[in-house]
Amino acid sequence: MQRRRFLEFLGTGAVTAGLLPPFISAATAQKSKVHELQKVITGIAPTRVDDLVLAEGLKAHRLVAFADPINAEDTFGFNNDYTAFIPKGENKGILWVNHEYPSRLFVSGYTGGQKTRMQADMELYSLGGSILHIERKDGRWELDKTADNKRINGLTEIPFNWSEPIAGKRKAMGTFQNCSGGVTPWGSILTCEENYHHCYGEVDRKTGEVDESFGTYGWSEFYPENRPEHYGWVVEVDMDTGACQKHVALGRFSHECANIIELEDGRVVVYSGDDKNSEHFYKFISSEKKSLSEGTLYVANCEAGRWEPLDISNPALAEEFESQTDILIFCRDAAKMVGATELDRPEDIEIDPVTGHVLVACTNNKPKGNYHGQIMKFMEKDGKYDALEFEFETLLAGGEETGFTCPDNLAFDKGGNLWFTCDMSGSAIGKEPYEAFGNNGMFVVPRSGPQAGEVIQVASGPVDSELTGPFFHPDGKTLFLSVQHPGEQSRSLDGLTSHWPEGGDAIPRPAVVCIEGPLLEALNG
Ligand code: FEO
Ligand code: CA
Ligand code: CA
Repeated sequence: MQRRRFLEFLGTGAVTAGLLPPFISAATAQKSKVHELQKVITGIAPTRVDDLVLAEGLKAHRLVAFADPINAEDTFGFNNDYTAFIPKGENKGILWVNHEYPSRLFVSGYTGGQKTRMQADMELYSLGGSILHIERKDGRWELDKTADNKRINGLTEIPFNWSEPIAGKRKAMGTFQNCSGGVTPWGSILTCEENYHHCYGEVDRKTGEVDESFGTYGWSEFYPENRPEHYGWVVEVDMDTGACQKHVALGRFSHECANIIELEDGRVVVYSGDDKNSEHFYKFISSEKKSLSEGTLYVANCEAGRWEPLDISNPALAEEFESQTDILIFCRDAAKMVGATELDRPEDIEIDPVTGHVLVACTNNKPKGNYHGQIMKFMEKDGKYDALEFEFETLLAGGEETGFTCPDNLAFDKGGNLWFTCDMSGSAIGKEPYEAFGNNGMFVVPRSGPQAGEVIQVASGPVDSELTGPFFHPDGKTLFLSVQHPGEQSRSLDGLTSHWPEGGDAIPRPAVVCIEGPLLEALNG
């Protein structure tokens, strides 16, 4: 049943050019259709081993790990998540890497009591992102430490791309909680501020009071001018200059990712989910070419199959909000007023390169009894990304029958095969209802061949880790992948739960690896 449904979802058959995102070349789509996978993939069984375990035909080497020098002054940040590769010739390119949240134990050594400013700054510096120039030498990608590598971090000054100040400021101090992201058609990257409320708290729309009960890192003591409203945005980074801006028009919430598509007329559509229990799925449609400030933000009303505008011209919103800026800052409140549908923590979003459908991984919603999540498919009316009506289906549900749980990051390879990673929370791994799934892993769903439509586990991460940010080199020969938060449940340096990647008695370190091998080549045709 699952296999048949998934084959339907994969849509290996008819594709009309009108459904394809313009940035996906006809050649790629054609190749996806005609490439018939001959190889049989031998998947791996779930495991609790403290290593990056890979299926036969895949191998990995470490590109960079936390605290590695990346140039004369800077070091690689902590908890690497989203990766994006911008080619600069056949054997060179720039790799962007997100750094999501800090560990007091591994980053600042804070163990309680009064945090020092230096400890706060060490934590802030470890977040944001890294711009890394990498080179392929003898078939192996390596970091070029002599190049103009850069760190964007929790202390970097970043302007708001908006006509009005945000909570009194034209610029924010820093970016953090950078989870997933997207690549713009013009070659910059979008990095998304997810669980911002863990840093400077959250503000009440009506009283203006800041609530820090979610747990913060104690940074506000040193930086009292930083407000919750300065975070929870999509940040664009120029890969060549490192220049950043926070795009207010895309709204403020726990952005998991931002998947951007350019329409034929040059306008853009950006999809983004709010990864919080029972929050929403949004899309921005620009009114100007290549603009991330001029346009309208919409939220999905699945019951009506309609995108609802979050615009001050709506009388219901005009009554509650003072300005469009307020609507964008308090997106969640505005969304609920226009009939937004509660979803199960929308995480990553990818456009299927063969069908053009919009895939959304909904990881779980435990308060509603959904422990395993599902991958959903949204179909815009007439295949147009700027449509205001849509249909949707739940495509593949997590659970023991399908062998995966809590889907998070999605990626399509050059052959049109779907890859995804999973994210059981660290404290839940190995316990019911997740016992059968081992550590967090990565899965592939072949689009063709004898195993078409099957969910096959191809990687398992070290203890407490999550595999994140899968991103394919355009030649299909390398998969960049983050191994995030190994050993996260360690209570002290004497009680480490993981020693990955060095092994022995070593302290665990998040790292980015390059995955290659004959299996990747077979899948990519
Ligand atoms: Fe940072 Fe929603 O994962
Ligand atoms: Ca994620
Ligand atoms: Ca997640």
